[in-house]
Amino acid sequence: MTDPDGPDLTALAWPRATARLRLRPLEPADVPALHRYRSREDVAWWLGATAGTTEDLAARFLDPDRTGATLVVEHEGVVVGDLMLRVQDGWGQAEASAAAASTEAELGWVLDPDHGGRGLATEAVRALLDVAFDGLGVRRVTASCFAANVASWRLMERVGMRREGEHVADSLHRELGWVDGLVYALLADEPRP
Ligand SMILES: CC(C)(COP(=O)(O)OP(=O)(O)OC[C@H]1O[C@@H](n2cnc3c(N)ncnc32)[C@H](O)[C@@H]1OP(=O)(O)O)[C@@H](O)C(=O)NCCC(=O)NCCS
Repeated sequence: MTDPDGPDLTALAWPRATARLRLRPLEPADVPALHRYRSREDVAWWLGATAGTTEDLAARFLDPDRTGATLVVEHEGVVVGDLMLRVQDGWGQAEASAAAASTEAELGWVLDPDHGGRGLATEAVRALLDVAFDGLGVRRVTASCFAANVASWRLMERVGMRREGEHVADSLHRELGWVDGLVYALLADEPRP
């Protein structure tokens, strides 16, 4: 569950720079860039929804709930990817659950394949972990993917996330049907290579 009063990305200072990247919140002018790579077949194959038209994508991403959970990744002044960070409640027994509010974040990522294979996504997700743990103070992050999305789970393992769930035929892919899904997680006090 998402806590509407919990911390979110707007509470932090932007942009954040890494060696090769600049991370900042999504702006309406970024939508055509997102559309360019999100409408590629090799990218859309793995995503939760196809891009549709630029207007369709704008309607989805400029919804405040989505905008507030989205960062864009710039490399040499060009938007090359986008990241999701959605703060959520951890699970707790009823009597303790207030203390679990806003203690987790669900993460996601997309990198334009024209910029893939150079560690830019890894660099962006390392920065995203810093944002989640050091910026927002969550205690645990999670991310999920189709088991066949090797690039995505290899990325998770590169940044130190642990495979915590191997779900059998739990995920419905629009072309492949029911396929296996993976869940990864990392705690704030665990090493980040
Ligand atoms: C998942 C995704 C972001 C991974 O992109 P990527 O290009 O593999 O990741 P990186 O940019 O970190 O590059 C890593 C590759 O560059 C290599 N590399 C080169 N220099 C590197 C560096 N300095 N640091 C880390 N890796 C480096 C790595 O060895 C790796 O190659 P390998 O997989 O052949 O070993 C990308 O495939 C994507 O956006 N896919 C479509 C959308 C998607 O699936 N999103 C996730 C849905 S769950």
